[in-house]
Amino acid sequence: MPARLSDPLVLPCGTVLPNRLAKAAMTEGLADVEGRATQRNVRLYERWGASGAGLLLTGNVLIDHRFLERPRNVVVERGRDTGMLREVAQAATAHGAQCWVQINHPGRQAGLGAEQFVGPSAVPVATGSAVMTRALSTAEIGDLVDRFSYVAETVQACGFTGVQVHAAHGYLNSQFLSPLTNLRTDEWGGSLENRARLLLSSVRAVRKAVGPDFAVSVKLNSADFQKGGFTEDESLTVIGWLEEAGIDLLEISGGNYESMEMVGFSNDGSPQPERRASTVAREAYFVTFADRIRPHTRVPLMVTGGFRSRAAMDAALVSGALDVVGLGRPFCADPAVATRLLSGAISEASFPDRAPHIPREAMPEADDMTHFIAQVQSGICYNYNRIRDMADGTATASESDWLHNLRNHEAVEGTGAADYHARFGG
Ligand SMILES: Cc1cc2nc3c(=O)[nH]c(=O)nc-3n(C[C@H](O)[C@H](O)[C@H](O)COP(=O)(O)O)c2cc1C
Repeated sequence: MPARLSDPLVLPCGTVLPNRLAKAAMTEGLADVEGRATQRNVRLYERWGASGAGLLLTGNVLIDHRFLERPRNVVVERGRDTGMLREVAQAATAHGAQCWVQINHPGRQAGLGAEQFVGPSAVPVATGSAVMTRALSTAEIGDLVDRFSYVAETVQACGFTGVQVHAAHGYLNSQFLSPLTNLRTDEWGGSLENRARLLLSSVRAVRKAVGPDFAVSVKLNSADFQKGGFTEDESLTVIGWLEEAGIDLLEISGGNYESMEMVGFSNDGSPQPERRASTVAREAYFVTFADRIRPHTRVPLMVTGGFRSRAAMDAALVSGALDVVGLGRPFCADPAVATRLLSGAISEASFPDRAPHIPREAMPEADDMTHFIAQVQSGICYNYNRIRDMADGTATASESDWLHNLRNHEAVEGTGAADYHARFGG
């Protein structure tokens, strides 16, 4: 029998997801200056805990305070108070949802507030901001594995119901996987087996720390979408190794800061132009990769990126391509989007997928990559504002009707963009 969106899913570890809709990880930036979760994190998860999603992935939680993905990330490391993480876990799971902590190290894609930029090799991101990336020493790499497992056992003790190791989107694990950013000649670089060693070692250490009955997931790129980067064939091989390592759910995404496929942009900043009509109809950016890997793995699959209509979600489940539908931005526009999709109250999770256009001449000093990132980020800012509003208890119930009108506006760069800028200052 083909799966339905409302069906539960039993994972290999025995955990049951109450339905097939998941809120994907979205970085929150709500911790205090010490990296401790705050009352604002709790309020946000009270909201999303009641969203109807069967699974909530937290925004990335960092394994080391020196390497933040953005200011006010939650950090879990030895000797550090876990703040209000227990309350966050309680709020998130109060209505029966699973809540898993996404564990990350940003490496060279560290953001404001990071003390240093590090990576497998001294290869900076192609923007001016990360030129000082330095290669990690072997001792530092060994420490990373310990940090991943420490976060896992800590959040398990706090009441979260699973963890996800972030190995997508060009962050540190993903940097190790890519031959473009991993130029090492020791056991951590070179062959795919060596490039995947950090991820596999971390996943095995996490599994050992949390035991067999706790959900362990990985978010992995289908590919980096860069010439010479991590490929689909390599991803397929790594998925086989992750299955052997005993993961419970694989989330498929793609891209990195230089090529923002995860939010639907190719690396010149335009909405992906060359996707086939059949792929566009299926909405999800990475569903064809899911089709490809499905016959090769028994690991339950979640695909995130681009899903908006109930029809496309149902079709993806019925086709057997995936087990769980991941949604990110729609959970910002409409905090109850899962309930409303599942009940049939809405047939589409509306969202303005096009970022407002920033004319090239408006950023004369910036290089092309910086202009591209500014353009994509200006669209993403809307989501950060909504997350902050939810955390402060000031978010309206749903902006989906207004957003629907905006998306249908004939020229987003015209009146729509002006309206958008006026509302959100993007
Ligand atoms: C504001 C924002 C923050 C995000 N933070 C994270 C994150 O912390 N970890 C992660 O794996 N992905 C992150 N993502 C990517 C989402 O998980 C998801 O892959 C992406 O938004 C595509 O899904 P969508 O089209 O349903 O929005 C973020 C996306 C947005 C918009």
